[in-house]
Amino acid sequence: MLTSLIYISSATHEMDDAELDQLLAEARAENLALNISGMLLYSGGTFMQVLEGEEDVVLRLYAQIINDPRHKNVTLIERQETEIRCFPDWSMGFRRISSGESGGKSGAVKKLTDFLAEASTRTTPGLALKLLQQFGKDAE
Ligand SMILES: Cc1cc2nc3c(=O)[nH]c(=O)nc-3n(C[C@H](O)[C@H](O)[C@H](O)COP(=O)(O)O)c2cc1C
Repeated sequence: MLTSLIYISSATHEMDDAELDQLLAEARAENLALNISGMLLYSGGTFMQVLEGEEDVVLRLYAQIINDPRHKNVTLIERQETEIRCFPDWSMGFRRISSGESGGKSGAVKKLTDFLAEASTRTTPGLALKLLQQFGKDAE
């Protein structure tokens, strides 16, 4: 069994492309070594990330990520056991959603904004994963 873990957090400062590139390069190298896959979204100072892998490896990495000074208010959204990876091709996929982006092909951008703004929707089972998968379709 694998574990899939999703959290959201707030960047401690608005991150520019160079800082995001640096973060991703670190994460991808480490995740390849740890056999972790996943997807990271960044929108207006908010991160949402899913981590997939062996349970103990995922939990150890999450504990490390929580303590990273580049973000705060790390909040667990979902943690579940799974047999299949939703992001098998990504050691860490990434999408930066700019504030100018609205509607999107499927309205997913608006949904992300709603999702992040509204605490109650965070508890809707599967919604976070659905959004990550939606954005993962044109990740870099
Ligand atoms: C939003 C965010 C997402 C991160 N995602 C990962 C990740 O997927 N994998 C990873 O190894 N590090 C990730 N990091 C970086 C870790 O917090 C940490 O810097 C990295 O694991 C190196 O830790 P170390 O210097 O203690 O070895 C992330 C950091 C932030 C702020």
